[in-house]
Amino acid sequence: MLRSYKGITPTLHESTYIDESAVLVGNITIGKDSSVWPLVAARGDVNYIKIGERTNVQDGSVLHLTRATTNNPSGYPLIIGDDVTVGHKVMLHGCTLGNRILVGMGAIVMDNVIVGDDVIIGGGSLVPPNKTLEAGFLYVGSPVKQARPLNPEELAFLKVSAQNYVQLKDEYLQES
Ligand SMILES: CC(C)(COP(=O)(O)OP(=O)(O)OC[C@H]1O[C@@H](n2cnc3c(N)ncnc32)[C@H](O)[C@@H]1OP(=O)(O)O)[C@@H](O)C(=O)NCCC(=O)NCCS
Repeated sequence: MLRSYKGITPTLHESTYIDESAVLVGNITIGKDSSVWPLVAARGDVNYIKIGERTNVQDGSVLHLTRATTNNPSGYPLIIGDDVTVGHKVMLHGCTLGNRILVGMGAIVMDNVIVGDDVIIGGGSLVPPNKTLEAGFLYVGSPVKQARPLNPEELAFLKVSAQNYVQLKDEYLQES
């Protein structure tokens, strides 16, 4: 499930859980207590992927990035912060996500998107390239529109969701 590319193998904190059916290739770093669930494909080949702490990437999600070019010398890596929940079958491509974010099931987040802290992206949403999502808001639709500020329960839920997955991955680690 862990493959090297050009001599670089994913670097995982010892507390991470990676399902054995997930495929992680190349320049990928994953922080403490994060988890990667069945059938995730993450390819850190022509740029890098960095995932923070207590973040979960759920089943069937696809993570990739964009190479550097003359016009775009850094390309677009994929950077995901702490306490982020990436729902089932999400596509994250060359974007930057802050902390305490829920990316709803089946959402697509494209190149050079910046997502602020404490954001929910509704299931099935499309975030087009180069868009910035403001901290503290719900975004839904295709293309996404800002729907409303998150309420206190939703803001609290973002951390609860991440914590639930830390507990779940600990249970899975005990089984393996
Ligand atoms: C986005 C979400 C949190 C909104 O929940 P909610 O509390 O029902 O939101 P609201 O009732 O305030 O809805 C605001 C508007 O957005 C619409 N809406 C809600 N979810 C939507 C979605 N995913 N896509 C498009 N529109 C959506 C609502 O119909 C409503 O429209 P209206 O004002 O025209 O009636 C929820 O629908 C969602 O998508 N959750 C994702 C869950 C998930 O994928 N979890 C990860 C796996 S564990």
